[in-house]
Amino acid sequence: MFIEDFKICSNVEIAENTFVIGVESDKTFDYLKPGQFFNIQVNENYFPLLRRPFSISDVNGNKIFFMYKLVGEGTTILSQKKSGEKINLLGPLGNSFDHSGDIENLIMLGGGIGIAPFPFLIKHITNQNYKVLFGIRSKNEAHDYGLKNVLFSSEDGTIGKKGNVIDLLDDELKKINSGKTKIFACGPNAMFRALQNYLKDKNIACEVSMESSMACGFGICQGCPIEHNNSESFKLICKDGPIFNINDIKI
Ligand SMILES: Cc1cc2nc3c(=O)[nH]c(=O)nc-3n(C[C@H](O)[C@H](O)[C@H](O)COP(=O)(O)OP(=O)(O)OC[C@H]3O[C@@H](n4cnc5c(N)ncnc54)[C@H](O)[C@@H]3O)c2cc1C
Ligand code: FES
Repeated sequence: MFIEDFKICSNVEIAENTFVIGVESDKTFDYLKPGQFFNIQVNENYFPLLRRPFSISDVNGNKIFFMYKLVGEGTTILSQKKSGEKINLLGPLGNSFDHSGDIENLIMLGGGIGIAPFPFLIKHITNQNYKVLFGIRSKNEAHDYGLKNVLFSSEDGTIGKKGNVIDLLDDELKKINSGKTKIFACGPNAMFRALQNYLKDKNIACEVSMESSMACGFGICQGCPIEHNNSESFKLICKDGPIFNINDIKI
């Protein structure tokens, strides 16, 4: 884990209120794992005081990319940053997606900005027989970040299947005839609850990347608890997660 200033090399809006910021250093980052995140200090003057957590979206040599949605003061400040300016990164933090073993049908389920960690995950999987299911509200939120096999669902029906991303998942699972299937999901808790309910009677492995407000990001402040079936007390999303087996947690 390091705390280090990085130089911003790009910061572009790729869809409405969705940005990708690239930062660079003189080191390379081959050791980073998909699902891990960094706690980013968005301003040099410590306003806002707390760092903001963002998943690693992509890595290219000495550059790390984060995809983020504009939701509040921290992400607004981030969206105004220009190439050449500096931001401070704390990380890498958290565990990573388990993509080992023979997974024949791999499905990535992203609700809104939940698609963020998947470009980096795709670089790590050997079986490229994957599908990315991307649930959004409307077409103006759509982008594919250059990924292949992206299918959309939209609440208003302006792109892809009209409905939510669980409806789209149901369609796709019905097309699978054989082989081990695994789902990696990232998105809002409402999506995870629907997913947990949908998968209840199905024997399909699923890992989810959980979110929470965070202060320290590495297990000190106890500010990100989650109820876990294999633990008498709570687990911490930042240290024990953010990736959990969907059957192990109370969402
Ligand atoms: C491990 C982890 C990885 C994350 N990865 C990404 C990522 O790759 N891209 C991305 O855009 N976001 C990601 N997030 C969420 C991101 O950290 C928040 O959106 C960000 O901190 C908001 O900062 P802000 O100052 O702009 O908003 P704030 O002013 O802090 O909040 C604005 C509004 O958003 C709500 N909010 C803030 N954080 C969250 C959250 N985590 N979940 C739900 N609602 C929230 C607040 O309650 C408030 O209503 C991640 C969060 C975690 C914990
Ligand atoms: S954010 Fe401090 S313990 Fe998780």
